[in-house]
Amino acid sequence: MINIAILGLGTVGGGVAEVIEKNQLEIKKVLGEDLHVKYILDIRDLPGVVKDINTIINDPDIKVVCETMGGKEPAYTYTHLALEHGISVCTSNKELVDAHGVELSAIARDHHCSYLFEASVGGGIPLLRTIREACGHEKISKIAGILNGTCNYILTNMKAGRDFADVLKEAQEKGFAERNPAADVEGHDTARKIAILASMVSGKKFSYEQVSCEGITNITPEDFAEAEAKGMSIKLLGVYDAENNSVLVAPHLIPKEHALYNVNGVFNGILIHGNMVDDLMFYGRGAGKLPTASAVVSDVIECAKNIGKNINNNFADLEPANVNKAPEKPQGQKFRVLDS
Ligand SMILES: NC(=O)c1ccc[n+]([C@@H]2O[C@H](COP(=O)([O-])OP(=O)(O)OC[C@H]3O[C@@H](n4cnc5c(N)ncnc54)[C@H](OP(=O)(O)O)[C@@H]3O)[C@@H](O)[C@H]2O)c1
Repeated sequence: MINIAILGLGTVGGGVAEVIEKNQLEIKKVLGEDLHVKYILDIRDLPGVVKDINTIINDPDIKVVCETMGGKEPAYTYTHLALEHGISVCTSNKELVDAHGVELSAIARDHHCSYLFEASVGGGIPLLRTIREACGHEKISKIAGILNGTCNYILTNMKAGRDFADVLKEAQEKGFAERNPAADVEGHDTARKIAILASMVSGKKFSYEQVSCEGITNITPEDFAEAEAKGMSIKLLGVYDAENNSVLVAPHLIPKEHALYNVNGVFNGILIHGNMVDDLMFYGRGAGKLPTASAVVSDVIECAKNIGKNINNNFADLEPANVNKAPEKPQGQKFRVLDS
């Protein structure tokens, strides 16, 4: 039996416990043994929950920890401690991966364990594992992704004629936009995700601060009417361009024939161009309790199959990227057009 701990029993952490309980037979089939949640750590006074990280890291039974607390602290300190004890950490925390992922990955490698973060980009979409494993031999020249479900939901509804404030309010009421939606609608969440993707494929660390970032708050119903007249839609994209060595988040016009045109509502879509495989398109739920938890559990299974070994996550020892400025918008145009 493999024993694990969950740090932070919120949306994602609660989902991890649920996935492990509901899919225990499927997990056993792929892992070859049972997966058991021995500890849950949370700040709240819940029955059976522990509060002291030392209880977890000093228990030799614990082989993998899921960090689903979010934020930088104490997530950073707890992750650091677990990895130093040879315990693998699987996380959905893109903020921590962006800020400290390189350092934490090196600690994991030095302590023969792993730091994996499949759920931090594209929620339930098995994107990072595919990039690491199936596309490791490719030269990736471009990534263009709809990486924030909240923004895509808002834009999809604006396309249907509704206004920004009205749709945002509805998204907040339905629980998939934060009460403070700035990180989503100003593009910062997408910036963290495209920075992680660019780092994974380029061999250099792109950080969130290096992403030229424009959100969706200035898009008007008139913009949609103009886009519609040209047979296009407007989507917020994170774009990595290897040739120009740039990362950008901005609303783009998407032609009808493009694969990303039909990615609507809360769904994410990511297009990756490899020099041999050509275009690959990934589609799925970029957030939500069970899809995100499913991605965390996929990492847990990979770590559990590799106890005592380090899984190369394409992040350890990355040097900072020398990022170029993203190309400007065409003169007089409000939006860039996604060409291919
Ligand atoms: N929700 C999604 O769909 C989704 C998708 C992809 C990635 N993520 C990422 O996953 C992470 C978790 O997101 P979430 O939506 O699950 O957040 P959440 O619902 O707020 O869950 C976080 C949990 O951690 C607990 N916690 C906070 N500080 C703690 C501390 N010092 N010690 C112990 N427990 C602590 C929280 O308790 P309190 O509630 O009492 O503060 C809460 O139970 C974030 O990095 C987020 O960006 C989320």
